[in-house]
Amino acid sequence: MSDMQYIQWFPGHMTKTKRQIQSSLKLVDAVAEIIDARIPVSSRNPDLNKLIQNKPRVILLNKCDMANQTATKMWIDHYAKQGITAIAVDCKSGRNLNKFPAAVNTVMKEKIQRLQAKGMKNPMMRIMIVGIPNVGKSSFINKIAKQNRAKVEDRPGVTRGNQWFTISKNLEMLDTPGVLWPRFDDKIVGEHLAFTGAVKDQVVDVELLAMRLLDFLKKLKPAEFISRFKLEETELDSIESHELLSIIGKKRGMLISGGEIDTERAAIMLLDEFRSAKLGRITVEMPNGELR
Ligand code: G4P
Repeated sequence: MSDMQYIQWFPGHMTKTKRQIQSSLKLVDAVAEIIDARIPVSSRNPDLNKLIQNKPRVILLNKCDMANQTATKMWIDHYAKQGITAIAVDCKSGRNLNKFPAAVNTVMKEKIQRLQAKGMKNPMMRIMIVGIPNVGKSSFINKIAKQNRAKVEDRPGVTRGNQWFTISKNLEMLDTPGVLWPRFDDKIVGEHLAFTGAVKDQVVDVELLAMRLLDFLKKLKPAEFISRFKLEETELDSIESHELLSIIGKKRGMLISGGEIDTERAAIMLLDEFRSAKLGRITVEMPNGELR
């Protein structure tokens, strides 16, 4: 897992990305950090605080349609306690995206008031999107762009090629997101990213990964998972994950010649169903850290 991340994020690439983000940061007043609501810890970039320094920030807990609603609320409260504004969004349907301008205004309040005190009536605020791969940055930008057709063309003093979308009467968004790297040094982070499909399956052992997912599901016991595979809730505490994977494969009729169970196919199916929320709306990481 970590090998693949190093291939994607070799040091030269990271330095280049960092420089690009730093130059974009000069153009904006605030940052919207998109993370995956199912794995709010693992889908964050470890160096973002250092990179954005004191710029105001909004957290977008994206893919909330696939995360547990109670858990998402707990995360929003958790951030609020730290003084961070977070909103849950779903960039597939566009749900809650209308809350975005107000959230940005909240974090920009001081700057807006300062500028208003200087006589600017309605100061324009600019924001950029950042996040690790696959959290939904392009989906967010596309949805916002569709909802707000007015595109602000290149303007004097702004690097050619930068496009801005008008989101509200005092908010513009840079059309290019900052693509950040995930954490490399934590095996659990790597696993959780792989659960959601943020790390490609070609570079992980799918059966091992599926068994790690089953280790987690056995503890959480989501109702949809249990009913989907017609499992006994009580058996989950005593069964080994490799055995459970075989049972699931057998129930789905995944056999290879000789009557053996095709556990690789079962693993791919299980991961696929988890990733499309067919096993329920499941949040893997909780603010109290219980599941990590
Ligand atoms: P990125 O720019 O940060 O790399 O992410 P991108 O927007 O490409 O989104 C990655 C995948 O996540 C896409 O699926 C996208 O449709 C999906 N996605 C983004 N936001 C949401 C959301 O709020 N809810 C759900 N359920 N899915 C979301 P894909 O399989 O790669 O492509 P496709 O299904 O759109 O064809």
